[in-house]
Amino acid sequence: MTRVLIVGGGFVGRAIAGALERAGGEPVLACRNRPARCPRVRAPAGQTKPVAMDTAWQVRQDAADVARWVRLDATDAAGCAEVVHEVKPDAVIAVHGPSDVTWCQRHPQAALEAHLTATDNLVRATGTARLLMISTDNVFDGVAELNDEESPTAPANAYGRAKLAAETVVHSHPDATVLRVSLVYGPQTPTPGKRPNFAASCARDLRAGRAVHAPADQWTTPVHVGDVATVALAAVREAPRLLHLGGPERLSRADWARRLADLTKAPRTLVTDVARDAGPYACRPANSCLTSRLLPDLLHTWGLSVRGVDEGAADLLEDCIRHAATMGGVDGSTPHGGDRPDHRRRDTGGLHPADPA
Ligand SMILES: NC(=O)c1ccc[n+]([C@@H]2O[C@H](COP(=O)([O-])OP(=O)(O)OC[C@H]3O[C@@H](n4cnc5c(N)ncnc54)[C@H](OP(=O)(O)O)[C@@H]3O)[C@@H](O)[C@H]2O)c1
Repeated sequence: MTRVLIVGGGFVGRAIAGALERAGGEPVLACRNRPARCPRVRAPAGQTKPVAMDTAWQVRQDAADVARWVRLDATDAAGCAEVVHEVKPDAVIAVHGPSDVTWCQRHPQAALEAHLTATDNLVRATGTARLLMISTDNVFDGVAELNDEESPTAPANAYGRAKLAAETVVHSHPDATVLRVSLVYGPQTPTPGKRPNFAASCARDLRAGRAVHAPADQWTTPVHVGDVATVALAAVREAPRLLHLGGPERLSRADWARRLADLTKAPRTLVTDVARDAGPYACRPANSCLTSRLLPDLLHTWGLSVRGVDEGAADLLEDCIRHAATMGGVDGSTPHGGDRPDHRRRDTGGLHPADPA
């Protein structure tokens, strides 16, 4: 599996491109705007087949420098056909937006149409080449603490409905896998107008001594973006038609924030518990949590592992330091700037995704 067309050049898509590049493959990113720079991630400890850090990648941390990028609006059927014809990929990974849960809730029809149309176009354009779609735990209502591949779906929100509809389209493809992924975290290069993921924002705020308000009644099974990338690349070769990928720990956002406070050597008192319903997480399921009947054996076969949040947080600390250096301040923050985290913002409107799940 050498050449992979990755439709979506955001947080997850760029990480997949970086992992494929490091593994000697040829990623081609496709989205409407040139992708942002791609931060470093490390392989989890004890992984039997580590994804080696590639020196060239570290120096040139721009996905668009190491991965080809083609402009594509995946809702354009002719555009999808043309790009697939030109790129001639061995496989296609659909990892495009809209990914902002709050935006989708406010624009349910637009979200549904975007996901359905783009996925339908990609299924048709891909033909018989392997297709992998990255989906979400929001296809469940979040009542059960954990959901596996056999749990009945009942989307929690408009985002979950759009993704579930797209899953159905993917299953019409003869050789496709839907990889449902829980909340993804990790280092994230700041992009103008976009917030980094929950953990990266928390770590930056806490390290800067700023208070964090986090729901104590919304649980996730966070999964590191580097692990999503390596599992996605393994799964795009061969995998069951439906696979779940969650991190090994189930924890509330507030508890996670306290773990990040420990990591950044910030006082835990900076973290205030809030109710999910009181803020921008109101439309999220109480449990955004995945488990799998299939993943443990597959990870063993692939020689991969999925790290816990403390191990994953090491990358976040480096991210904080890099971020501070980039911004030139003590902590790199702009108290009222464009890098405010989702968990403190009330208005998450606009087209820019934030803290997707
Ligand atoms: N991050 C998570 O926690 C998480 C968890 C579970 C599942 N997922 C799924 O993973 C996917 C990617 O998430 P992410 O966090 O990487 O989101 P992201 O950072 O917002 O990236 C989304 C990417 O999709 C592109 N895109 C949006 N509309 C497009 C279109 N019509 N045609 C082509 N490209 C388009 C965007 O670029 P342009 O705007 O330039 O086109 C962007 O590069 C989403 O489908 C999301 O549902 C994410």
